[in-house]
Amino acid sequence: MAGRASDIEERVRELLARMSLDQKIGQMTQPERTHVSPEEVKRHHIGSVLSGGGSCPGDNRPADWVAMNDAYWTASMEEDEDHLAIPILYGVDAIHGNANVLGATVFPHNIGLGAAGDPELVERIGRVTAREVRAAGVDWTFAPTLAVARDVRWGRTYESYSEDPGVVGEYAGRIVRGLQGGGGVACAKHWVGDGGTRDGVDQGDTVVSEEELRRVHIAPYVSALEAGALTVMVSLSSWNGEKCHAHRYLIRDVLKGEMGFRGFVVSDWNGVEPLAGDHGEAVAMAVNAGIDMVMVPERWMEFIGALREGVEGGDVAVERIDDAVGRILRVKFECGLFERGRPWGRRGANGSSFGSRAHREVAREAVRKSLVLLKNEGGVLPLDKGGRILVTGWGVDDRGRLCGGFTVEWQGVLGNDRIEGGTSVWEGIRAVAPGAVLGGVGGGGGEGVGGPPGMGEEEGDFDAAVVVIGERPYAEGLGDIREAGPVRPGTNHLPAGPGVLEPYGDTLELAVLHPEDLRAIRGLSGRGIPVVAVLVSGRPLVVDEELAASAGFVAAWLPGSEGGGVADVLFGDFDFVGRLPMGWPGGVGDAGEVLFARGYGLRMGVARRSYPPGAGTR
Ligand code: GLC
Repeated sequence: MAGRASDIEERVRELLARMSLDQKIGQMTQPERTHVSPEEVKRHHIGSVLSGGGSCPGDNRPADWVAMNDAYWTASMEEDEDHLAIPILYGVDAIHGNANVLGATVFPHNIGLGAAGDPELVERIGRVTAREVRAAGVDWTFAPTLAVARDVRWGRTYESYSEDPGVVGEYAGRIVRGLQGGGGVACAKHWVGDGGTRDGVDQGDTVVSEEELRRVHIAPYVSALEAGALTVMVSLSSWNGEKCHAHRYLIRDVLKGEMGFRGFVVSDWNGVEPLAGDHGEAVAMAVNAGIDMVMVPERWMEFIGALREGVEGGDVAVERIDDAVGRILRVKFECGLFERGRPWGRRGANGSSFGSRAHREVAREAVRKSLVLLKNEGGVLPLDKGGRILVTGWGVDDRGRLCGGFTVEWQGVLGNDRIEGGTSVWEGIRAVAPGAVLGGVGGGGGEGVGGPPGMGEEEGDFDAAVVVIGERPYAEGLGDIREAGPVRPGTNHLPAGPGVLEPYGDTLELAVLHPEDLRAIRGLSGRGIPVVAVLVSGRPLVVDEELAASAGFVAAWLPGSEGGGVADVLFGDFDFVGRLPMGWPGGVGDAGEVLFARGYGLRMGVARRSYPPGAGTR
């Protein structure tokens, strides 16, 4: 390895020495695909292009992605007197499979994997994800999220494996090896403390001592770096009032100095501009703090101009530029990008394993292991495959709901038609229980508080009912639980106007957020039908009333495309093995009351099948 490393360093030095300032600054620039053409990639020597969540080419099939990447790559490699051939690195948020792309295998979000307690499985998931990213001609995924979520009101709680930094650290190295094993590039994010903001406000302020910041939020990055993580993304949050994007101590002294990180640091979405009123000042602050590549989706030409002025005006040293570009080149050499050839011709591009049965089996195993049994009164579980089972609830036949955010669209999708190849909870149950009956919600997962006619009042006598309840999909700050209204200036995603991120709600009580769920449960349990509630959510919620009205209660998190894994366990093919990755809140209004501690999870004690020895969950 030492020989290879010195070879790479020599190649970096040689190429850097040939680059003009414009070519160097171009490498540090990452526009979004809808704002840059292949011709502009060449003209401005762009080093990377990204897809924001849901930004998909053509018909959003792997071939469309390969064609897009081929055009960008070809342009970046057309060397002439003005342009050096340096292949672009294309980045996507493949955070639970390459879930932007239609037909992809969509894995449970990280919170469910944290419940599964199976680091070996997480590495396999990384390998499958990397294959489905490569199938699209893409090399770089903005994963893993290494957030240690400390307040479940945070809209990104589901991207966190656990509230326990030890668990996150145990997974970090495994997922990085899985994602990077075949030449892919992973991205440990968001540096640092994104999961610890006050009141769980997304992009908020993490007010903790340095000792706690290191022990809780920095610790998981150690194993990610040991596993060779090639990139790190900076957090849009702050530490004790200072924006991470301008934090020289955290980026240059701790991450690059003390921890020896030799890859490159990328900003988050428009994370630079809000640092200062003056654009040039903001750019200088971020680059001098140690950011090497700037994710500047739209105003990338202004960024290039501002950085050039910063260098020419002496606000940014050429040595800093050379360090940043050297890191970017090092990553491109390390991952083999210069030798990989054009996307169309690559092994794995348009790969037939994309969305394959074998990949989906890995996802279905993850679903089974992620489920946490919170209640099993009277042994209602496992259900009888020959029984008359009513299956109802908003999410019962809605694969989009099961997938949550960062799936086909940034905020996710509802219904089944854009989640191809998977199985809803109903489709999984129907396949194993011939006597099962679909209740009032005939799929589509519509919206509305009252719920459709029939949900919970279905006629007939049933041995039991499965009621799928929970949250609709969301991503980032739009999933926050807090008072509505302006949170802070400079918010990056402005779906509801400057500075205002419309939160999901202002309470963790499911009975307030979605009263139709409790109504459906009570409608059935009130008739003496034992209800098994299956909660599909991105986080623990206050469900005291739903729990009381149910005989069985399962936390399913956001299981992804393979909802059939829920039936595998409900009907006893496999037992529950999942354990809560974070404490479960209880009590109405009693802030901080924990109903179930982290690690809680019941077993049925019966199962027709079991996992091979050693395939173990903890
Ligand atoms: C978002 C997220 C980040 C994601 C990036 C690109 O703002 O904070 O996790 O990787 O933008 O989509």
